[in-house]
Amino acid sequence: MEHPQDFAKGLSIGIIMDGNGRWAKQRGLPRTAGHKKGAEVFQDITRYCNQIGVESVTFYAFSTENWKRPLEEVGAIMRLFGEYLLKAYDYQKENNRVVFLGDRSALDPKHQELMNDIETRTRNNTGMTLNIAVNYGGRAEIVRAAKALARKVAQGDMTVEQITEEAMSNEMYTRGQKDPDFILRPSGEKRLSNFMLWQAAYSELVEMDVLWPDFTREDLDRAIQEFNRRSRRFGGV
Ligand code: FPP
Repeated sequence: MEHPQDFAKGLSIGIIMDGNGRWAKQRGLPRTAGHKKGAEVFQDITRYCNQIGVESVTFYAFSTENWKRPLEEVGAIMRLFGEYLLKAYDYQKENNRVVFLGDRSALDPKHQELMNDIETRTRNNTGMTLNIAVNYGGRAEIVRAAKALARKVAQGDMTVEQITEEAMSNEMYTRGQKDPDFILRPSGEKRLSNFMLWQAAYSELVEMDVLWPDFTREDLDRAIQEFNRRSRRFGGV
């Protein structure tokens, strides 16, 4: 697709990878086949975001609610995540800074170790920031931030008056990052589903009628064009 130079430069994007199950069902395949294809699309879209100058992209890989799915499906998603973690080292040349959002204490200790190591190794990379939300919930993230600030107040390290929006932002998993310019949800759903609740206060919502495993680079171009068309006023006129 033709697009102007720099059309995506500096953007911060949140992506809810949705529709894997429906994609598989349409083909008479197990739901896990949809997640497998979804994981491939995730890697391709990550690479593309990096190429077109996106500043940061956040993928919703596994929510705090996703544990309710059948054990087999949860296991398959976690296996795909584990495979990705091993591959992440090959991606070092892409210069991404990788950050994991969510409560990792409930994950496989081997995965936790890899996650910590990947974050440490990529911390000083100067390319795109790649956030991957795993066992992530927006409300849980806000509660965690509130507790961190309450602890500081209780210890006398800050006053109640010093609790500001900025102080809260600094306790989020995304600390120091720009809030998402838009949140993209494929598969036709129009919900945030507990994704980046704090950060999405002024984000545009872009929904698209394509299932995540079918999502292409051209679809991302279309989403960015849609975002660029919308005027954003931040509550002003
Ligand atoms: C939502 O589709 C998708 C998920 C809950 C899992 C997403 C996980 C991956 C793409 C793979 C693992 C992640 C990484 C980072 C490698 P759905 O199953 O809710 O679809 P449906 O609404 O059609 O049922």
